[in-house]
Amino acid sequence: MNALHLEELNAGNVAAANTLSLKPGQDQFVAPVSHSIAEAYVNQESTWPRVAVDGDTVVGFLMGNFDEDAENELFRATILRMNVDGDHQRQGVGTFLVNALADEARSRGIDEITAVWEEGELGPGQFFRHLGFVEVGETEYGETIGKLTVQVHAQ
Ligand SMILES: CC(C)(COP(=O)(O)OP(=O)(O)OC[C@H]1O[C@@H](n2cnc3c(N)ncnc32)[C@H](O)[C@@H]1OP(=O)(O)O)[C@@H](O)C(=O)NCCC(=O)NCCS
Repeated sequence: MNALHLEELNAGNVAAANTLSLKPGQDQFVAPVSHSIAEAYVNQESTWPRVAVDGDTVVGFLMGNFDEDAENELFRATILRMNVDGDHQRQGVGTFLVNALADEARSRGIDEITAVWEEGELGPGQFFRHLGFVEVGETEYGETIGKLTVQVHAQ
């Protein structure tokens, strides 16, 4: 793999982001990228849609959301959805994307990031726990809410 870099979702990469593959059985754990694209279009203030690019190949997508005034502090910096192309999983792309959102949170002075996921054998729970996310609750739909504390850089 070449060095990964991050791009904002844009006209040049949106089609590739929308055709990222998944491994069999993973589709039940994440909404299609097209849902995030629509959401980002109507909610440009808070959403943070980004792709991970390896050379010139889009290999992953992350839909973040930032709401510095959220009443519930847990939802100031949130991973709403993310997915890595089936052929590029287990190569650090997911970790790269979470780190990118953590960096963005730090630059905004936010010291914890939150992810929401569904438990299941083929789900992303092990991935988030491996990164240090700690379970702090459940949504009304029974999804796990996990939190990761990130160090805020001194200014
Ligand atoms: C979850 C997902 C984004 C992880 O992306 P990834 O690029 O494969 O993750 P990484 O390579 O950075 O994995 C880091 C570590 O997490 C753990 N991990 C990742 N995927 C795992 C899996 N399927 N099973 C067990 N552990 C896993 C491992 O410890 C891994 O390190 P290792 O490969 O050295 O053992 C990817 O599997 C995916 O797109 N899944 C389908 C969609 C989904 O569930 N999205 C989340 C919705 S919120």
